[in-house]
Amino acid sequence: MAAKTNGYYDDLVESYLFAEVARRASKYEAEHPDVKMIRMGIGDVTRPLPPVVTEAMKDASDEMGRAETFRGYGPYEGYDFLREAVQRYYKGFGVDMELSAIFISDGAKSDLGNFLDIFAQDNTVLVPDPVYPVYVDTNIMAGRRILYAMSSEENGFLPMPEDIVSEEGKAEIPDIIYLCSPNNPTGAVYTREQLKTWIDYANANGSIILFDAAYECFVTGDLPHSIFEVEGARTCAVEFCSFSKKAGFTGTRCGYTVIPEDLVRDGKKIRDLWLRRQSTKYNGVPYIVQRGAEAVFTEEGEKQIAWNIDYYKENAKIIADTLDRLGIYYTGGKNSPYIWLRCPDITKCADYDEVIAGTPSAADPDAPLSWKFFDYLLQKAAVVGTPGAGFGTSGEAFLRLTAFSTKENTQEAMERLTKMLGTE
Ligand code: MLT
Repeated sequence: MAAKTNGYYDDLVESYLFAEVARRASKYEAEHPDVKMIRMGIGDVTRPLPPVVTEAMKDASDEMGRAETFRGYGPYEGYDFLREAVQRYYKGFGVDMELSAIFISDGAKSDLGNFLDIFAQDNTVLVPDPVYPVYVDTNIMAGRRILYAMSSEENGFLPMPEDIVSEEGKAEIPDIIYLCSPNNPTGAVYTREQLKTWIDYANANGSIILFDAAYECFVTGDLPHSIFEVEGARTCAVEFCSFSKKAGFTGTRCGYTVIPEDLVRDGKKIRDLWLRRQSTKYNGVPYIVQRGAEAVFTEEGEKQIAWNIDYYKENAKIIADTLDRLGIYYTGGKNSPYIWLRCPDITKCADYDEVIAGTPSAADPDAPLSWKFFDYLLQKAAVVGTPGAGFGTSGEAFLRLTAFSTKENTQEAMERLTKMLGTE
C-alpha cells in the first residue's frame, strides 16, 4: 500500500487566489521587463516597520546574544509582556478581557486555519460571500460542508442570518460562523446592532463565531473594533487579530487570538482545547518579534502607526476620488484599506481581444468578468488588482484594489486607469 493523499484537496480550486494573481503578475513582468508594474493585488504593506518596533527588536536581539538575558522556548500562549499590552489595548475599547484569553500567534491567517483542528469534521460552516478565501479553502481541505451567506449592494455587503443559503437552497443553522469586519474584500463594517443579531443567533443555536478583526485599526467613528464590545460575545466568539496591516508585520509575522474563558462547547473550554493544540504543534512567535509587537502599543508606537494608517487612508481617498470621477460604483476605502469596485465591461472595448491575447482570459471566453477585467487592466495599464470572483460567487464583476501601495504608485495607477477607460 502506498501513502494516500488528502482527497479533499481535489475539491480546491487549482491555486490559492493570491498565488494565481502573483503567477499572472510575474508572467507579465517577465514578458515586459521595461514596464513598471504597479501591484495593488495582495494586501501587502509598503511602509516599513515603525522605528519603535525596529529599536525594540534590536534591543531584544542583543538580549538574545548575552548569556544572562538569553531566552530559549517561550510560553505557548506568548509572553505576558505582549499579552498584557493586548489586554490594555482592549481596555481602550471598553473590553475587560482576562489574560488567559489572549494567545500570541504568527498571524491571523495561520490561526484561522489552524483553529479548525479543535472542531469535529462534521460541523457545518458558514462563510459570508464574498470573503477572504482562507475560510473556504481550509474547510474544503478538511472536507467540511460549507453554507454561504450571500451579500451584495442590497445588504451593504454585510450578510445577516436571513441571508444564509445552503446548497439545497434552504436556510440551515451552521455550527461555525465566519465574520470579517472590516470586511476583506469589500471594506464593509458591521455595526454593534448587526453584531448583536449574529451573537444572539450564535448563542441561541450553540454556534461559534470566528471573528476576523485583522483590519480593525482602520475603523473610524463609533463602529466596533472588536466583537467583544458587544454583549453576549464572550459565550460565542473567538477573535483573530494581526499586526500585519496595523504595523507592517506582513513579513515579520505576529498576531493574537482571543478566546474568552466563558466560551464552552461540549462541556469543554475552547481556550483549553486551543492551548492543548498549540502546545502540541507550535512553539510560538520569536521573542525578538514579540518585543517588536509590544512596542506597537507604546505611546510613541501608536503615534508612528497612526501616521502609517493615515498614509494608506490617503491612498484610499486617491482611488475613491478617481472612481467618483469615472462614475464607477465602489465600496470600502473609508474603514478599510480595500476598495471594492464594479468592473466596467471592458469586453466591449474595440481592443479587448488584442489586449488580452495570450492571457488565460483569452483561452477561456467564459471566464468571469472580474478575471477578464484583471487581465485587461494588467496588460493595458500594468496594474495588478484582485478579481472579485476569487472571493466568492457574489464577488463576480468586482475587483479589489489595495491602498497599501506607495502614494506615488497609487497616483500613477489611477492615472493609468483613467487613461485606460478613455475618459482622461
Ligand atoms: C489579502 O490581500 O487579502 C491579504 O493580504 C491576505 C492575507 O492577509 O493573508
